[in-house]
Amino acid sequence: MKILFYDTKSYDKDTFTRELEHYPGIEIKFLKTDLTHNTAELSHGYDAVCAFVNSNIGTKTVEILHENGIRLILMRCAGFNNVDLATAHRYGIRILRVPGYSPEAVAEHAMGLALTVNRRLHKSYIKVRENDFSLGSLMGFNFHRKTAGIVGTGKIGAAMARICHGFGMNVLAFDVYENPALKDFAAYVSLDKLLAESDLVSLHCPLTDSTYHMINRETIQKMKDGVILVNTSRGALVKTEDLIEGIRAHKFFGVGLDVYEEETPNVFEDRSDEILEHSVTARLLSFPNVMITSHQGFFTREALAAIAQTTLDNVRVFESGEASPNDVNA
Ligand code: NAI
Repeated sequence: MKILFYDTKSYDKDTFTRELEHYPGIEIKFLKTDLTHNTAELSHGYDAVCAFVNSNIGTKTVEILHENGIRLILMRCAGFNNVDLATAHRYGIRILRVPGYSPEAVAEHAMGLALTVNRRLHKSYIKVRENDFSLGSLMGFNFHRKTAGIVGTGKIGAAMARICHGFGMNVLAFDVYENPALKDFAAYVSLDKLLAESDLVSLHCPLTDSTYHMINRETIQKMKDGVILVNTSRGALVKTEDLIEGIRAHKFFGVGLDVYEEETPNVFEDRSDEILEHSVTARLLSFPNVMITSHQGFFTREALAAIAQTTLDNVRVFESGEASPNDVNA
């Protein structure tokens, strides 16, 4: 089985090459370029392609893949909103994905952001490097005995709830479904109550029509003054303009973002030599109590190894012809 991997970085190559020794008969060629209708032609002579979150697998791309004899699209991520499923299925191309890999990776990063903005670690790192050993502006507050509000208690939200419980926090939860795994230490409440009572609000629900801009001027007003907001889920859960307004009004003690609305052209790219035209990210970064990371929540050894294993298991499933819960259906 010959697979062409698109949009690969050195860490993808390293992780998959390590796992590959357990999967004899699978051959991989790694490409740096991403999969689009301009690069789909390169798949000639392969059985499958493997793509990532920002690949553009629209109608034209799928048509070229089909003409090249591709029978399998492997998504090495959970999302598949970038794939024209109907066209792929019409051509009999199977799509398999990695629905979950390491919830703890993302949850631990969420707590990392919360701790960073709380204790101003991003400021103290710079200060001490400049021989400034003063403590001015670094005062935080204890998480112990404060309240954490977890919005979305699926795999990642549940892991974050466990971490907050471990910190000695009182845990409030909001979800459209209650997760029984949390019943011993978390209380499900309405979103309004969660916002009103939480010292730390952490977002862990998917981006859907009902969650789009769920954090906006109105919901920010419902939050406690001096709250910490963390978003490791999807940028558009938060209406950025309203967040900036809230930060300017001193509503937040701190804001930690692993995702933000404008992130798409930035994610995983080194743009340090460029003058960025849009100013929203720059405006957010201008505030001393905001910390932004670039969609790195998933980025641990364990998560990458799990992604590689599931992707290669998906190849085996394809070869066996069996159905799988990892199948993406239109
Ligand atoms: P999951 O599917 O296990 O959990 C999502 C939870 O959100 C479910 O319990 C669902 O009922 C709940 N939910 C759905 N609509 C809701 C609403 N309107 N209000 C409140 N809760 C709602 O998903 P998982 O694995 O926990 O991932 C959560 C999100 O984390 C993903 O959707 C993705 O956006 C993000 N993510 C971020 C990564 C990163 O690197 N920063 C990596 C992986 C995922």
